Amino acid sequence: MRFTSAFAVASVASAVALAAPNKRAASPTATDVADVYAAQATALTLSPTSNVKGKVFDRYVSIWFENTDFETAQADPNFQFFAKKGITLSSLVCATHPSEPNYMAAVGGDYFGLDGDAFNAVPQNVSTVVDLLEDKGISWGLYQEDQPYSGFQGFAWVNQQNGANDYVRKHNPAILYNSVANTPQRAAQVKNTTMFFKDLKDNKLPQWMFITPNMTSDGHDTSVTVAGEWLRNFLGPLLDDKNFMQNTMVLITFDENETYSLQNRVFSVLLGDAVPAELEGTTDDNYYNHYSEISTVEANWDLYTLGRWDVGANVFANVGKYTGDRIRKWSTTPDLAHRYFNSSYAGIFNTHNKWAPQPVPDCHSRRNGRTTLPAIKAQWESQQDKNYYHGQLEVPDGNNPPVIPYTF
Ligand SMILES: *[C@@H]1O[C@H](CO)[C@@H](O)[C@H](O)[C@H]1NC(C)=O
Ligand SMILES: *[C@@H]1O[C@H](CO)[C@@H](O)[C@H](O)[C@H]1NC(C)=O
Ligand SMILES: *[C@@H]1O[C@H](CO)[C@@H](O)[C@H](O)[C@H]1NC(C)=O
Ligand SMILES: *[C@@H]1O[C@H](CO)[C@@H](O)[C@H](O)[C@H]1NC(C)=O
Ligand SMILES: *[C@@H]1O[C@H](CO)[C@@H](O)[C@H](O)[C@H]1NC(C)=O
Repeated sequence: MRFTSAFAVASVASAVALAAPNKRAASPTATDVADVYAAQATALTLSPTSNVKGKVFDRYVSIWFENTDFETAQADPNFQFFAKKGITLSSLVCATHPSEPNYMAAVGGDYFGLDGDAFNAVPQNVSTVVDLLEDKGISWGLYQEDQPYSGFQGFAWVNQQNGANDYVRKHNPAILYNSVANTPQRAAQVKNTTMFFKDLKDNKLPQWMFITPNMTSDGHDTSVTVAGEWLRNFLGPLLDDKNFMQNTMVLITFDENETYSLQNRVFSVLLGDAVPAELEGTTDDNYYNHYSEISTVEANWDLYTLGRWDVGANVFANVGKYTGDRIRKWSTTPDLAHRYFNSSYAGIFNTHNKWAPQPVPDCHSRRNGRTTLPAIKAQWESQQDKNYYHGQLEVPDGNNPPVIPYTF
């Protein structure tokens, strides 16, 4: 039924487009089937490439799965298959629950108090890893399975044949940020996996990418078994693909673990041809978090920082060994074992009466020679007295919130 009606509506939409070529395009947040197909027909798609040498890798790929406890993922044969080819990170702890704040954190260096999965848009004046990469001419892209077209900003898009969940905005880290969504050239680099396979074939994959499988493939609506099989089918062939493996480091991880009363630690693996053979099948027990995914990229390409939680996050040791970023140990009370990261601190997106102002980035950050992006400094320097980020490794959670240095 849905299949038929979707097609009927789609052909009506294209007939209308032909009859009235000046009809304004639907908003990129529209999710009505006719609007989506109309926008899909004309969406701008870009695949810029670059070749900026990194100290350890020349390409970085994150693949994110959903809601699985550490031991459950570790026991899955397909996740085991990839673990044997790389470094298992045994202490990567997420930012909070549920999904969306973790995705938001992974590109912007904070989750701004978010404690849910609603339609949120981070203000234009918050920078992300995209600003840092573009500053050094490093190409980037996102590939979201079943996103209907490049730059789509809608809340969700379901499978048109059976109505099942497919693409969700909450799992698309870059589109949550207005600094990406409202810039057409950037939105055009937030693509689907159809475009991934096209870019792969054309040898036009970017140097930084973030991949989100659909709600079936990522385990959200299914199980770790389905997620593992998807990963085996997707990543398995890429291990020998010269258009993918170009001194590439892949991170396989999960947004959060499933049991809220336990510490929010997730199974994660680093692999690829940028990981030396002697590290295959090893385990790294150092403390990392989703902000390490930004700090590691910063260290590798000597980028500026965002001046947020990225500054203090440990750089993955196999990279830090060559960039001079040494691992730091958690040193404050409560100790790491007693930090659950299972609730959010106050912020602009918090829905439980825990409002706090938009945090001001640290304009004077310093980490192994890296400093805050000049454009961030220019925008925020006059408010440095309100900054609460101090390059600390020990990031806050709901039970141990950041200290806001003024009353509001
Ligand atoms: C993926 O995005 C491209 C570019 O916008 C679009 O043409 C294509 O139809 C999309 N694929 C799917 C399966 O939605
Ligand atoms: C999700 O992706 C898989 C392939 O990766 C596909 O078979 C499936 O139809 C997609 N959508 C749903 C709702 O399962
Ligand atoms: C977080 O974990 C602690 C320790 O297990 C538990 O007491 C608390 O209820 C959890 N918080 C939430 C919001 O689940
Ligand atoms: C969530 O992570 C913790 C590690 O901090 C782990 O011990 C636990 O097993 C995970 N959850 C479950 C239910 O396994
Ligand atoms: C950042 O944007 C927010 C929301 O639009 C605004 O309230 C705030 O004043 C801006 N701050 C700076 C320093 O640009």
